[in-house]
Amino acid sequence: KFGVGIIGTGYYAPEKVVTNADLEKMVDTNNEWIIDRTGISERRIVDDNIATSDIAVKAAQNALADAGVKPEEIDLIIVATLTPDMVFPSAACVVQNKLQAVNAAAFDLSAACSGFVYAMSVGSQFIQSGMYKKVLIVAAESLSKITNWEDRNTCVLFGDGAGAAVLGPVEEGYGILGVELGADGSGAEFLHMPAGGSLYPATLETVKNKMHYIHMNGNEVFKFAIKIMGEAAYKALEDAGLDTKDVDCLIPHQANIRIIKSAAKRLHLPMDKVFVNVNKYGNTSAASIPIALAEAVKERHFKKGDIIVLVGFGAGLTWASCVLKW
Ligand code: ACO
Repeated sequence: KFGVGIIGTGYYAPEKVVTNADLEKMVDTNNEWIIDRTGISERRIVDDNIATSDIAVKAAQNALADAGVKPEEIDLIIVATLTPDMVFPSAACVVQNKLQAVNAAAFDLSAACSGFVYAMSVGSQFIQSGMYKKVLIVAAESLSKITNWEDRNTCVLFGDGAGAAVLGPVEEGYGILGVELGADGSGAEFLHMPAGGSLYPATLETVKNKMHYIHMNGNEVFKFAIKIMGEAAYKALEDAGLDTKDVDCLIPHQANIRIIKSAAKRLHLPMDKVFVNVNKYGNTSAASIPIALAEAVKERHFKKGDIIVLVGFGAGLTWASCVLKW
């Protein structure tokens, strides 16, 4: 008998910093508004010649080093992203090749900002069933490439980055204790990139109509996030047979400090039990939870035996939460 848990974490943030002051020069916005409404001070952006797989590989290498695992020991790579290098092949296949993880199967998982937790749940099943021993989960995004830098409603929110975790068998009673996954496709239109797929393939018209950018109804997404973050975490805790008072650290999707504070309040958690880095990176979609997790590990925020809750929401609409015993 064994558990399935995280045996290594890593992240990578591009070097280029875009501050709120930089954005003031690009759109009609100001530092006070952005900080007050979102909690974001700056975000990282990849260079034009960098693709999502490039930053995914860096985060993956850091996670493999942390776990002490060689690329050829990986049985499966799941990449969670909404900004793959191209529609096909999958970003996971590109990452597999760049890592030389020659024994790994590879596929992408599309669940937007909930993608990392979805991927953890999927990956852990292969280990639990005995089919695989080591699964690499990478969540990486180059949202800057699908951001309309003339739209102040969205461009202030997003950033680029990558986070990764190696899953493997752990001591019984440790690792993943509870999971909650969910989706409500009726909210698809609130957050989407309309073109570039089979519905609206790329044409001069779709480009002219700015359909290859993130389109968002911020108020609707906000309302959904406020409701679902607490609910999802409660359900994952219930699945684990635990209560909010057992929680040592909450790692929420880093979309907006107001959404994070509201989730903490619903879960009756003081903010010193909540890991926050949205100020430095903005919303990096699927990458946000694993970047926060890897930073929290690096900064020694938790010790063996601590109960950690990951919770996120995103386009789809989707939500996901996972309870871990570290
Ligand atoms: N600078 C200055 N003013 C702005 C800006 C800006 N960057 N953006 C919007 N405004 C204006 C609006 O135009 C509006 O002006 P008006 O009243 O004259 O029309 C005013 O500010 C208030 O706008 P609201 O949308 O009501 O502002 P709100 O307080 O709701 O905050 C925000 C907007 C930050 C977008 C919020 O709705 C939010 O965080 N929503 C969730 C977004 C999110 O998390 N999305 C990602 C999900 S994860 C994924 O899958 C990628």
